[in-house]
Amino acid sequence: MLKQTLLKAIEAGAAELTRFFNGTFVISNKEGVNNLVTEADHAAEKAIFEVIQKDYPDHAILSEETGEIAQDSSYKWIIDPIDGTVNFANGIPLCCVSIGIEQDGEMVMGAVYNPFLNELFFAQKGFGATLNDKRIQVSEQPALINSCLVTGFPYTYLDSPNGPLQVFEKLIRKGVPVRRLGSAAIDLCWVAAGRFDGFYEHKLQAWDSAAGFLIVKEAGGTVTDFKGKPYSPYQPGIIASNGKIHNELVNVVNGGEL
Ligand code: IPD
Ligand code: CA
Ligand code: CA
Repeated sequence: MLKQTLLKAIEAGAAELTRFFNGTFVISNKEGVNNLVTEADHAAEKAIFEVIQKDYPDHAILSEETGEIAQDSSYKWIIDPIDGTVNFANGIPLCCVSIGIEQDGEMVMGAVYNPFLNELFFAQKGFGATLNDKRIQVSEQPALINSCLVTGFPYTYLDSPNGPLQVFEKLIRKGVPVRRLGSAAIDLCWVAAGRFDGFYEHKLQAWDSAAGFLIVKEAGGTVTDFKGKPYSPYQPGIIASNGKIHNELVNVVNGGEL
């Protein structure tokens, strides 16, 4: 039942992305430069809420454009109606709907759907991860130097030691390919599918990573904070990998040499 509602909600949100994509829609700016929100983000969020609130009116919700809808419930739906909004606004088909479900503070189910590539990623705690119903597994790459990585950059420049540009520079100076797709949820799912060996980002919000981090874990990967401790989506830093390169990646993100 929970899974059915999750998939219905993901589809309802994605239908709004498809409806607005490459058409005309209102775009506004949130805090920071180029931190956009479009009419489609709001429409997708509304469509998702309608599905969830019909089936589970007593569940709590945390969603990017609305914030927290508190309820006295052990369940919380964590929603990014469009992850990759800048891509979406530019007609770049690398964006998705991301929904994670937390039960008693633990992520138990998640789905990420990119309707433009028709890729639906899904995971349930303890039951593995799938892409369009086929099991997925992280890569086998054993060495960071031979890895293909992905990262993202926050909308406001983080001027700190070992900040996003410093870590990026260190890796690319050594010739390690580091991609930047513009959707953290897709980045995570592509690690889960073995397309990337690792992903790191300095400053995410819970809705960016809630579903994706469970999908990586259920695909056999490792997800931690920047200290290498078990990941919580309520703090900023994330490192996700196939597990084999994890310690090396944690070291580099913290200023260590490759
Ligand atoms: C953003 C994307 C991007 C990441 C940013 C996020 P949005 O989410 O996930 O990849 O680098 O930090 O804010 O704004 O497109 O929902
Ligand atoms: Ca996001
Ligand atoms: Ca978003």
